[in-house]
Parts: sequence; C-alpha cells; structure tokens
Amino acid sequence: QKIYVGVDVGGTAIKVGICDAEGALLHTYEGPTETSKGADAILHNIAQYARDIVDQSPFEWEQVEGVGVGIAGFLDIPKGFVKYSANLPLKNVDLKGFLEEKLQVKVLINNDANVAALGEAWAGAGKGIGNCVCYTLGTGVGGGIIINGKIVEGFSGMAGELGHMAIVPDLEAIQCGCGKMGCLETVSSATGIIRMAKDAVARGDRTSLSTVDNIMAKDVIDAAKEGDEVAARIVARAAYYLGRSMAQIAVVLNPECFIIGGGVSKAGEYLFAQIREVFEKYTQDEAKENVKIIAAILGNNAGVVGAAGLILKDNK
Ligand code: BGC
Ligand code: NA
Ligand code: ZN
Repeated sequence: QKIYVGVDVGGTAIKVGICDAEGALLHTYEGPTETSKGADAILHNIAQYARDIVDQSPFEWEQVEGVGVGIAGFLDIPKGFVKYSANLPLKNVDLKGFLEEKLQVKVLINNDANVAALGEAWAGAGKGIGNCVCYTLGTGVGGGIIINGKIVEGFSGMAGELGHMAIVPDLEAIQCGCGKMGCLETVSSATGIIRMAKDAVARGDRTSLSTVDNIMAKDVIDAAKEGDEVAARIVARAAYYLGRSMAQIAVVLNPECFIIGGGVSKAGEYLFAQIREVFEKYTQDEAKENVKIIAAILGNNAGVVGAAGLILKDNK
C-alpha cells in the first residue's frame, strides 16, 4: 500500500497525517511549532514530526510516496520557498530543499489555505465538485481556489490569497499585517473581529462586550447572537465584506460553490445567512445560479489531508 504524508504548519502546532489514496486519514500526530526559536527550529520541527509519524505507524518509509506541506504565507511554490509569513518567522527559506535533504523523499509545499481547500474539495464538503473557492477564517483569512480539482497557484504561487483582496474603502481601511490597506483579513478574520470589538469598547459603545479578559472572536459572535447590537454590527461587517468578495470572485471565476472553514465559521447559519444575503445582492443572477455557500466539514484535518493530496494529485 502506498501512503501519503501531509503536514500542516501552524503558528503554534504542526499537524502531521498519513493518508491513503482515497484521502482517508490513517494516522495523525501533532507537535509544537517552536516559533520563538526561529526559522531553523521550525524547519527541524517539520522534519522531525514527519519522520516520527511514519516511524510510529505500522508503515515503512518505502511506502511513503512523498511529503506534502501546507504553510501560511506568501510562497514561491515552484521553487519551494517561503518568501514571507505574517505569523511565522520565515523569510526566503528553502523549505522544500531542506525537507527533501532530511527526509530523502519527494516534497511539495503549498499555502496552508490552498491545501485546506484541496482537502475539502477532495475528501470534504466539496467532494465531487470540481470548481470551488474556499475561505479559512482564523488568525488570518486564507483562501484556496480549486478549478477542475486542482489548486490554482498563479504565476508564482500568490493566487488564492483572498485575505489580501483590497476591499475595504480607503476612508474605513486600516493597515493589514501584510502592510497594505483595507485587506479583507482586516475585517473578516478572528483577529479583525477582535480588533473591532476592542475599538468599540475603547470608544465607549453601549455593549455587553468586555475586553478585560482576552476577548475571542467567539465571544463577539455569541454576544451578537444574544442580541448585543454592537457585536451584531461587527459580525455583520465581517460577513458583508466576505459576501462582497464572493460577489467579485463569482464573476471572475464562476465557481460552483464557496466553502467556508476556520474557527470563525463555527458561527454557523447566523454568519452564513448574512454572507448569502450580501452575495445575492451584489451578484448577477447568471453568475450566482446554483452557487452554494457551505461550511467546511474536515475541520482541523483539512490541511493535513490536502497536504497529502498534493503528492497524490501530482503523481496522477
Ligand atoms: C496569509 C495566507 C494564509 C492565511 C491563513 C494570511 O494572512 O497571507 O498565506 O493562508 O493568512 O493562514
Ligand atoms: Na491561499
Ligand atoms: Zn493584507
């Protein structure tokens, strides 16, 4: 039996998984990302955990067809380089080269949200759907575009960076972690929601929200659901820009569906209904025909499954 190893590199943890040729997850393993120790430590963490999972499984290295890695940030996918990452201390790092040397197997790297999208399209909410666009709403807003079952990478690997669509008008825009103004990520990520809540409290808006204890996006969403108007406006704003961005993507790519995952998506129908309303309002009937806006279903496993999928799809 051939097996495919997937690695999902996050800011606090690195998840590793072994998949079979159908995308079924046979084993998972997780270890900390030693972010504070710098780039070298992170590279070694990735290699170590990939080695550990195979060693601890009933499989042999000879069965490993390759190791796929999903990692947040701007990548040069063909070269296998991480050019810049907002949440990891990696700058111009040859991730693919390092891992190939350490593990002596084929290695492919891709963006974390791209591989999550591939995972969902292959074995999750988009199973059987060839064209879909996925959002992951977490610390950042990640994006992944799947056309005919394949990740759209663009010329150098920057395609699908949906979180950095410049969408908030200048008068309301703030600076994004990427340095530019008005990115979708500034309003529709968990971080964006928290920031808007803190701003509201600092302004003295009448709200049940308190930023005394570290407030989470979930607190804001829960307050909104319970009728807090300030919180509701914040969530509505996050939903509004997501819906607007989808309206634009719909006329550019005409996907069959939008899949939304990540922590913020746990807000469920409350959030989805608002996104759909905006999408409906701004999208041409012909472009939105049959377009579904649905929740991701693989949860935290989408990344490892999709990363393993990089190897499998490449071999085909
Ligand atoms: C990064 C993306 C990443 C996303 C989710 C964004 O800030 O630019 O590369 O996919 O966060 O982690
Ligand atoms: Na992406
Ligand atoms: Zn940005």
